[in-house]
Amino acid sequence: MTTPFYITTPIYYVNARPHLGHAYTTILADVATRFNTMRQAETFFLTGTDEHGDKILQAAEKEGLNPKQYVDKISALFRNLWPELNICNNHFIRTTDPSHMAIVQQVLSRIHASGDIYFSEYKGLYCFGCERFYTERELVDGKCPDHEVEPKVIKESNYFFKMSRYQDWLIEHIQQHPDFIRPERYRNEVLAFLKEPLEDLCISRPKSRISWGITLPFDKDYVTYVWFDALLNYISGLGYPDGKLFKTFWPAAQHIVAKDILKPHGIYWPIMLKAAGIPIYKHLNVHGYWNIDQSKMSKSLGNVVEPLQLKNVYGLDAFRFFLMRDMVFGLDSSFNEEALVQRINSDLANDLGNLFSRVLSMVRKYFKSVVPEPDADLVDTGWMELKSASMAAVNEFDEQMQAFAFHKGLLAIWDLISRMNKTIDTAAPWNLVKNGKHKAALKTVIYNLLEGLRIVSGLIYPIMPDTAQKMQRQLGLDPESRFYEIARLKHWGETLPGAGLPMFEPLFPRVENMPKSAAHSVNTAVPSSLPDIKPLITFDDFNKLDLRVATIVHAETIPKSKKLLKIEIDMGERRTIVSGILESYRPEDIVGMQVVVVANLKPAKLMGITSQGMLLAADAESGDSLVILDRNAAPGSCIN
Ligand code: MSP
Repeated sequence: MTTPFYITTPIYYVNARPHLGHAYTTILADVATRFNTMRQAETFFLTGTDEHGDKILQAAEKEGLNPKQYVDKISALFRNLWPELNICNNHFIRTTDPSHMAIVQQVLSRIHASGDIYFSEYKGLYCFGCERFYTERELVDGKCPDHEVEPKVIKESNYFFKMSRYQDWLIEHIQQHPDFIRPERYRNEVLAFLKEPLEDLCISRPKSRISWGITLPFDKDYVTYVWFDALLNYISGLGYPDGKLFKTFWPAAQHIVAKDILKPHGIYWPIMLKAAGIPIYKHLNVHGYWNIDQSKMSKSLGNVVEPLQLKNVYGLDAFRFFLMRDMVFGLDSSFNEEALVQRINSDLANDLGNLFSRVLSMVRKYFKSVVPEPDADLVDTGWMELKSASMAAVNEFDEQMQAFAFHKGLLAIWDLISRMNKTIDTAAPWNLVKNGKHKAALKTVIYNLLEGLRIVSGLIYPIMPDTAQKMQRQLGLDPESRFYEIARLKHWGETLPGAGLPMFEPLFPRVENMPKSAAHSVNTAVPSSLPDIKPLITFDDFNKLDLRVATIVHAETIPKSKKLLKIEIDMGERRTIVSGILESYRPEDIVGMQVVVVANLKPAKLMGITSQGMLLAADAESGDSLVILDRNAAPGSCIN
């Protein structure tokens, strides 16, 4: 085991439904966690919800619910979304958890006792959206930069935390630990902010104004300022102070946030930890915004994109891939559905999907779906240098992912993929096959490509875990094994010669027509660039087709036919169908599959056998691809 790895996301406010921005940070944390599992680290991943404060209270009132009912409802939306996005958080913390509330009071008492909290009257500019005071110089054109409204002047007596006392210490800490805040631009931003004298932090709100919060342990008329409460989730979620999790994981703590909350995480939080005598976290990883038309995607600006809708339209792994590939960590990115479709088609369907189907169809065609034995002398020679290219890709990926440069990690994988596609073109296995002398070379190049695909399947695991497993299965490997461990990816030769490969299933279909927009704020225009499209039909025309679900119960070849298979189906009744898919499927591969049948096609005689219907199949580049169901349905079910 290498060192433990602890990662957190911000805990999200429950005044709005989760959107793509929240999903992005949480998927980042998931990818980072899975990547550390590849490095055999012991990992802990924490996310959750931030449930106290004025804006939560107002949102509850607006819905006619009491605050507890309201926070339970919205918190559940976040909690239930994460498994849908294949996010493997170890714990989900809520600031209304009694154990968290007790720890907030404990830390406050400790800092109060050490003399770092004092009571005073204060008059300042307060943004109700952010629930905090602003200094003049933090405003943009006199307005809060996040909510774009002018803050109100308010005057009240409150408790203050002596942050100023720790300013010099913090500057020194940041200077001595260059990767404490990363990327560097955000480190510089914090250092620039610290050039001005740091004001003390108002850490209480009078109950006469806000009652929904954690009561100060030393004054029952006040509740704790939401940020002082929320930041402590990172330790309460580990069972601070005595929990085993805290002891194991806190020394390795890393946070991920977007730049909107750089100041509380880069300034308040380390100072709070220092004042409470708790070791400081290791890294603060700061990313940019997903924008829509130059503005940050946010609930208050009403331009949000729903993650689940994107998942449902494009598939989860494609969605996760797009988020990781299209945002350079640290910089802003503009969300746009056309770019998502373009990525799916070029990187996933064309580069990876085609490579996978080309290699597997060659194994099927030249070696009857059995992994060939490579020639040891040929493995890393001439155009076959896939072994060294794969090892270089694993090393580059490892380095970039550790530095939180996820898009560069993906580039390393795609370089390998394009190298493999080029290898196929240069080696031209279809020529090698014609000349018996080249049998050893043919076997070796195909074996190398299978090994390369095994390594690609491991490298994509943190970003696209389901696709990684799907590739493994089709490569005849065990998808339940820890196939993605870096140590195993650095080892060449795990694919076993002689192993039989199961039936081929394509990885990523091309998105030909952009579906109706998944994101309400995105342009929904459907490009119509399909060549040779047939004349339009009415719904009544379409309705004349009787499409049914059928299970294939038996299949056999037909003497003297190179293309046809005789297939017995169960679609509520038994039927025989003759189908021209023999070049793409072996009879034993398709038994048990649930397919789509045109049930009311006039019977026709083929090779002397009456065919009672037709199976639907796509004209894929690698041959025919049967239309199959992605979950079981009763034979005979209608398709409409
Ligand atoms: N509750 C505080 C955080 C407390 S952590 C101790 C909060 N909540 S939030 O719901 O507003 O979440 C902000 C975070 O959501 C951002 O830092 C980022 O992680 C994510 N994002 C929200 N909108 C986003 C974008 N448009 N783009 C990228 N990330 C975004 O602040």
